[in-house]
Amino acid sequence: MVIQMANKWTPQSWRDKPAQQLPEYSDEISLKNVEKELGKMPPLVFAGEARRLQEQLGLAAQGKAFLLQGGDCAESFAEFNANKIRDTFRALLQMAVVMTYAGSLPIIKVGRMAGQFAKPRSSDVETQGDITLPSYRGDNINSLEFTKEARKPDPKRMVIAYHQASSTLNLLRAFANGGYANLNKVNKWNLSFVASSPLGEKYQDLANRISDAMRFMEACGITPDNVPALKETSFYTSHEALLLPYEEAMTRTDSLTGDWYDTSAHMLWVGARTHQLDNAQIEFVRGIKNPLGLKCSPALKSDELLRLIEVLNPDNIPGRLTLISRMGQGRVKENLTPLIKAVEQEGLSVIWSCDPMHGNTIKSSSGYKTRPFDAILAEVREFFTVHKEIGSHPGGIHIEMTGQNVTECVGGADAIADEDLSSRYHTHCDPRLNANQALELAFLIADELKDIRKDQDHNYESQDLSAVE
Ligand code: PEP
Ligand code: CO
Repeated sequence: MVIQMANKWTPQSWRDKPAQQLPEYSDEISLKNVEKELGKMPPLVFAGEARRLQEQLGLAAQGKAFLLQGGDCAESFAEFNANKIRDTFRALLQMAVVMTYAGSLPIIKVGRMAGQFAKPRSSDVETQGDITLPSYRGDNINSLEFTKEARKPDPKRMVIAYHQASSTLNLLRAFANGGYANLNKVNKWNLSFVASSPLGEKYQDLANRISDAMRFMEACGITPDNVPALKETSFYTSHEALLLPYEEAMTRTDSLTGDWYDTSAHMLWVGARTHQLDNAQIEFVRGIKNPLGLKCSPALKSDELLRLIEVLNPDNIPGRLTLISRMGQGRVKENLTPLIKAVEQEGLSVIWSCDPMHGNTIKSSSGYKTRPFDAILAEVREFFTVHKEIGSHPGGIHIEMTGQNVTECVGGADAIADEDLSSRYHTHCDPRLNANQALELAFLIADELKDIRKDQDHNYESQDLSAVE
């Protein structure tokens, strides 16, 4: 199957394609000035880092690593502060350690952080009472406040978003490499409100076992000082490749390879509403060398998926493409099975990741957009079951979560009910797991990874035995 894209790719070639979900800026001059300004800014990430992430994702495609991708649905200017960044980072570290321990697998940590601002919307307008205004599209485009002025797309917001992404990334790098992620501190990553919960105890138990192992290794001469992997971690950033004027301005040639990289994040993904084959977002991402994600909803059929893979990963490079399925509870087997089978039949290398959030959004009786935690867990279980049945590798999880003690998704160990949603509902877009719910999910995934591990060990053992016989 060979699909020729008609035109030569350039960072601007998306401009000749039909674009979905892009704001209409009324001030053309301001937009051009902003694009010029961003084009001169230092890159946020280095191409070599994106290549390293791609190599690690290549392992996840083979079942030798697992991707943990998580963070806000939409980062916001209002909720930007150091504690929030630290707490989300810490919750991701906790999840990763739980999953690493159980699965004996490297966990690749990728934040929906440091650039996840732009949002696709199902409607271009929002009506409240008898007033209709443009929909909120993310803080790098307009403001959530329901006034005409606030909802007007303002290009200058892209510059604010760039600076916020830059300082967020600076702090994340400091946490990842400056000692915060030291495994000796595994006991300290428990957030205060998590520590007092049953899950906190379960985590503490695991942290104690890791600390014992660290003491044992130290006695053998293996310490964080002589093995840096014990005191630092790799942490990558990602966001949806939606707001193309911003992404284009951040795209540069790598001086080492001459390849194009979008330097706004390590990994970029295309959302479920913008992945039409002839669409601007697909045209843009096909030419950048960053690892890519592609959301797969029940609307995406196998033949279309195969055509998209041909365009996005024509050389079948392992780690280049992560397929993020977001089917909804009860719909995974029916919708994901044909996609996996089609991909396997063509011998294509992809990472299968599960987004159990976006197919499980409902309106609560109190009027809030929410997600039942049970539905989220159920979709993750279905995802693992389908892969087990087919014999393919479940390669990752993609979630909307925060380290804060929010009340946005109902259920979980704290049994958040409809009437609790109003107490700490802070998201600017979709409801996120709080740190407790995220940890509970990590323990469920850990059990699934442990089962896979046991099956593999069992297979190795029987192979060994048959070799002896
Ligand atoms: C998202 O990830 O926030 C999102 C909008 O997802 P999707 O494109 O899958 O709806
Ligand atoms: Co979302």
